[in-house]
Amino acid sequence: MTGNHIHVLEKYLILKTRLLGEGSFGKIYMAHDKISKKNVAVKISEHKNGTRDIINECNILRNISHEHIISVSDFYISPSISYMFMPLLMGGDMFYLTEKHEISEHTSKIIFKQLVSAVEYCHHHDIIHRDIKLENIVLKEAYDPRNINIVLIDFGMATIQHINDPPLDTYPGSPYYASPELINITPYSGRKNDIWSMGVTLYALVARSLPFYSNNYDDVIKIVNNEEPDYDHLPEILVKLLKGMLNKNPILRYDIDQIKASDWICEVDNDDYPSGTHCTIS
Ligand SMILES: Nc1ncnc2c1ncn2[C@@H]1O[C@H](COP(=O)(O)OP(=O)(O)O)[C@@H](O)[C@H]1O
Ligand SMILES: [Mg+2]
Repeated sequence: MTGNHIHVLEKYLILKTRLLGEGSFGKIYMAHDKISKKNVAVKISEHKNGTRDIINECNILRNISHEHIISVSDFYISPSISYMFMPLLMGGDMFYLTEKHEISEHTSKIIFKQLVSAVEYCHHHDIIHRDIKLENIVLKEAYDPRNINIVLIDFGMATIQHINDPPLDTYPGSPYYASPELINITPYSGRKNDIWSMGVTLYALVARSLPFYSNNYDDVIKIVNNEEPDYDHLPEILVKLLKGMLNKNPILRYDIDQIKASDWICEVDNDDYPSGTHCTIS
């Protein structure tokens, strides 16, 4: 991968004391690129933990490029351990940020529009993320409501599904963000499952709690199948969008175009744009 015949692992100094995050299958550390003299992030995964590994993530990410999607700068894969080097994101993930800050509806809308633009790009390239959640949305810079720039990360569970492909029949991801069809282990449309997860993510951003929650796994399944989230205190046009994304029937569930055309997305806040500006998602 690296030019000038330098081994990838010689190009970087991995800072094992600077742990940036830890998921179920890997640890993310800060690293120093000795050539560019910049700090980067590296995700390290030991293969003994099972099927989910960085090879899948690198294969998916190396063919795409989008301002709100993580990129891979280098990787190294040995039989026992994988390293994925990527830009260092300084702002923390949205799970941590929603605990730390009161995020306004206006800021939630900016975050969500950027997420829609990232997921629309993925789906256009037949990439299904399958793990969209607050923990996998990271800010490029320290939290500042006037300067929001999100990055969708963690494509370890992603897969390819072309528009006419058969339904998917592997069932990864967090149960809290899983659609009824996925949590019930029935073959599903990857795009429609991602939309459900985006609905859960948006709800969690604005309501500061998960819409379908229990600490007992079997109860989560029952709640996802049978209950509606608590929409009290949320604005009507936002509830309409959330209900569209969290429709238990995947055929009736909103698609990306319906999300983009929803009143909540298109509503122009006074502090959003200069007057006369029209709704756009880049
Ligand atoms: N490029 C990055 N820069 C800074 N922090 C990151 C970066 N990538 C991941 N993280 C942090 O590490 C956590 C776990 O990373 P992730 O790729 O989601 O690993 P896993 O696949 O194990 O869930 C994220 O939730 C985030 O807090
Ligand atoms: Mg993750």
